[in-house]
Amino acid sequence: MKVTVFGTGYVGLVTGTCLAEMGNQVVCVDIDSAKVDGLNKGQIPIFEPGLTPMVVQNHQEGRLQFTTDAESAVAHGEIIFIAVGTPPDEDGSADLQYVLAVAGTIGRYLGHYAVVVNKSTVPVGTADRVQATISDALARRGAGTEFDVVSNPEFLKEGDAVKDCMRPDRIVIGAKSAKALEVLKKLYAPFNRNHDRIVAMDVRSAELTKYAANAMLATKISFMNEMANIAERVGADIEMVRHGIGSDPRIGYSFIYPGAGYGGSCFPKDVQALERTARQYGYEARILAAVEAVNDRQKDKLFELISRHFSGELQGKTIAVWGLAFKPNTDDMRAASSRNLLASLWNAGAKVQAFDPEAMHEAERIFGQRDDLMLVGTANAALQNADALVVVTEWKNFRSPDFTQLKQQLSAAVVFDGRNIYDPETVEQAGLAYYGIGRGRSIVRAD
Ligand SMILES: NC(=O)c1ccc[n+]([C@@H]2O[C@H](COP(=O)([O-])OP(=O)(O)OC[C@H]3O[C@@H](n4cnc5c(N)ncnc54)[C@H](O)[C@@H]3O)[C@@H](O)[C@H]2O)c1
Repeated sequence: MKVTVFGTGYVGLVTGTCLAEMGNQVVCVDIDSAKVDGLNKGQIPIFEPGLTPMVVQNHQEGRLQFTTDAESAVAHGEIIFIAVGTPPDEDGSADLQYVLAVAGTIGRYLGHYAVVVNKSTVPVGTADRVQATISDALARRGAGTEFDVVSNPEFLKEGDAVKDCMRPDRIVIGAKSAKALEVLKKLYAPFNRNHDRIVAMDVRSAELTKYAANAMLATKISFMNEMANIAERVGADIEMVRHGIGSDPRIGYSFIYPGAGYGGSCFPKDVQALERTARQYGYEARILAAVEAVNDRQKDKLFELISRHFSGELQGKTIAVWGLAFKPNTDDMRAASSRNLLASLWNAGAKVQAFDPEAMHEAERIFGQRDDLMLVGTANAALQNADALVVVTEWKNFRSPDFTQLKQQLSAAVVFDGRNIYDPETVEQAGLAYYGIGRGRSIVRAD
């Protein structure tokens, strides 16, 4: 099928590539000409496992094209995806300027029936606004071209995006038009062979489903962080508690890890946007507000532990930071906890030596050159002449360090484990002080 995708970010690029992999003719369009030029040369702007060879191969074989030419891209697509960003507005609600700009562009150029598919995460009612924007643009040039707007929210996870896209848990399609639904069913048929994953519904329910999913996952994380903060105070170990509750199938083990707060481009903004939507409709979403507030506080947790250990004396200290991305297997640092930690450390006069397996170029772009930041090439280089180690992102290669060597390298002999990846006893046996999240027993010993 002929597919056009607006936006070549994490969602648009992965979606376009997976659709090309299934044999469709895909044109990806972006306003960022540097990105498009790079993609045409095989340079992939993001780190996503498995993505590069798929992009390169499908591009070489002519099924996947990249362009800034919106007119030809609209002319190409019988299905036109909108997969552009919906960042938070000043008041926390979703900023729809990019989505509506694409809708305007589609209306300006559309000359044949097409299904316009909204894949961006957008507040309930946005499909109606997209529909109206396209209709207005068509009317302005006296065109009566028919089209349908469908909501098809994306559930892929960064770090697993290709896998999620090729083998989705579910394909949510919110459509008013039976014809549009059939077109999408045909497009998704190759992803749907094992069993039917399509959940068809009305447009507004589809729009809300995406927010409900992210809000639920964020709630699980904030709930566990709340429990961790209680555990720390009462002298319990949240990791024991986690195992204890996860074994209940009604709760389950997934997404109940305590840590340094959730980040990334989705949970923080989506929880906020849903809370603002509720407010616009006269409802105070108290759980969502609490989830957000608990997370904001949790992002300061590592700094509080560090500051407490050093009695607030961080001036001139050098802190090794392992992990900058908001989670492993991505280079995305949007709303990452590491950013809060670094800002607080700098504010207190400390220097940072940081390493992340994939996010170094992103860190360079965000922070630029500064005297109090050394971005180094290996985990070990971050430890050179450092006083303490903080683990912010649980990359696999941080999981089993040589603690005896760490003890020799870190002058203050202390490890702050923001993701509870270490066994406190093992760390302490090597002669290091250990701080985790919600590990009351180790806090008691470390004090
Ligand atoms: N990143 C994720 O894990 C994820 C998962 C599910 C859903 N989503 C949602 O998908 C949407 C896209 O997210 P993302 O992370 O891929 O964003 P992103 O910021 O990585 O990419 C957005 C891209 O859209 C381009 N763009 C902006 N305006 C454009 C226009 N008028 N025409 C063409 N291109 C344009 C930008 O240049 C950029 O390359 C958001 O609504 C997000 O909430 C993201």
